[in-house]
Amino acid sequence: MIKAQHLAVIAIRRVLAGKNLTEVLQEIWQSNPLLSHQQQGAIQDLSYGVLRYYGQLNALLNLLLDNTLQDLKLRYLLLVSLYQLQYSKAPSYAIVDHAVSTARILSNKRGAPGLVNAVLRNFIRNSSALCEQVSSDIGKYSHPQWWINKLRKQYPNHYKTILNASNQHPAMTLRVNVRKIGVKAYQEMLEEHGIKADLIWDAALKLAQPLSIEKLPGFKDGLMSIQDAGAQLAAPLLDVHEGMHVLDACAAPGGKSTHLMELAQIKLTAIDSNAQRLKRVAENFERLGNEPHRLVCGDALYPSEWWDGQAFDRILADVPCSASGVVSRHPDIKWLRRQTDLSLFASNQENILNALWKILKREGKLLYITCSIFHEENLILIKEFLKSHQDARLLPLSHSDMVNGQLLPSSLHDGFFYALLCKT
Ligand SMILES: C[S@@+](CC[C@H](N)C(=O)[O-])C[C@H]1O[C@@H](n2cnc3c(N)ncnc32)[C@H](O)[C@@H]1O
Repeated sequence: MIKAQHLAVIAIRRVLAGKNLTEVLQEIWQSNPLLSHQQQGAIQDLSYGVLRYYGQLNALLNLLLDNTLQDLKLRYLLLVSLYQLQYSKAPSYAIVDHAVSTARILSNKRGAPGLVNAVLRNFIRNSSALCEQVSSDIGKYSHPQWWINKLRKQYPNHYKTILNASNQHPAMTLRVNVRKIGVKAYQEMLEEHGIKADLIWDAALKLAQPLSIEKLPGFKDGLMSIQDAGAQLAAPLLDVHEGMHVLDACAAPGGKSTHLMELAQIKLTAIDSNAQRLKRVAENFERLGNEPHRLVCGDALYPSEWWDGQAFDRILADVPCSASGVVSRHPDIKWLRRQTDLSLFASNQENILNALWKILKREGKLLYITCSIFHEENLILIKEFLKSHQDARLLPLSHSDMVNGQLLPSSLHDGFFYALLCKT
């Protein structure tokens, strides 16, 4: 546990200094090649957990400390230990003992182990009363204040549910490859392997417990993919038919591209501006036993650099966004984003949409997607687009869980926005 606490402190420190958690963990695995899978799992759990509840843990720590603690490593060690005491099943004496030893490694100040011991024991004695004393928005909802304010304004009746859903552990959901096996048949196959999964909709099966992919039958043979149930709504909404010329303009890692090709024999052009991520699209197609017509490293903003001149029947534009709908999966996002990022995202999204609109056929359809819940990247942007494009019409989307194309995060799926536009 000492190693896990120590390396989680390093991970949290780097994230709070501005780095992405997935990349930080990769760096840590590379510089500590002897870590076992179990140790990696423990470090991952601690880092994700602290970032998920950072607002609350920080508020608790402030109540426990008489003075501001300048030593950031010690501060993060205390947050890691508070997370363990509050949310893990590890015995509290072991958490405190290991934290005291970790403090000796992290700090050369003589008083550090004593301080860690005193703070944590104080928390154990008074945890319920301290938790009740946390009254700030950030402490209660573990999101930045600007984020809470925005959601309160945009979703006055739902903001608490959204914030709570974003703080839960995400669902692990499979998409059955219906070209290879029926949904019911795959669900039965899971059952035979002792794996329980519930049907959410269409081909989406939510696992009762997250599992490593090696334990899922038929993964290598392409019987299914891992994909959030909300993301699985995209491909069917685009309404593709045999022989259609379809573009996925922001395709990597290929979740929606591969789904499109499971629905109909289409001529798919999949592009992404990130060459590294594009490799994953190719791998996913290969595993699922399918191949797109064209797989190109290209920029959706500049079609002239990669477009073959034939207008598309359908375009999927799953544009880069704040990712505010997938915080349960990436809890670092809420602390890394700045309010000012939203207008930058929106202006890039608008530019991508304008560029793609020009290469869509008349009567063709374009599905605009974000995994954001902020109106600036969603409904506001689409309304502006409709105002400036007389040849664009917004088609109704009928899904019981969506309001005006907005799917809010829940225990079943992430948050997404969908707008289906038709060119008249
Ligand atoms: C939300 S992800 C797409 C997820 C993908 N549709 C899926 O379902 O697996 C957005 C992708 O857009 C790519 N991207 C960002 N800016 C782009 C641009 N200007 N042109 C093309 N791709 C871009 C990113 O590299 C990233 O892979």
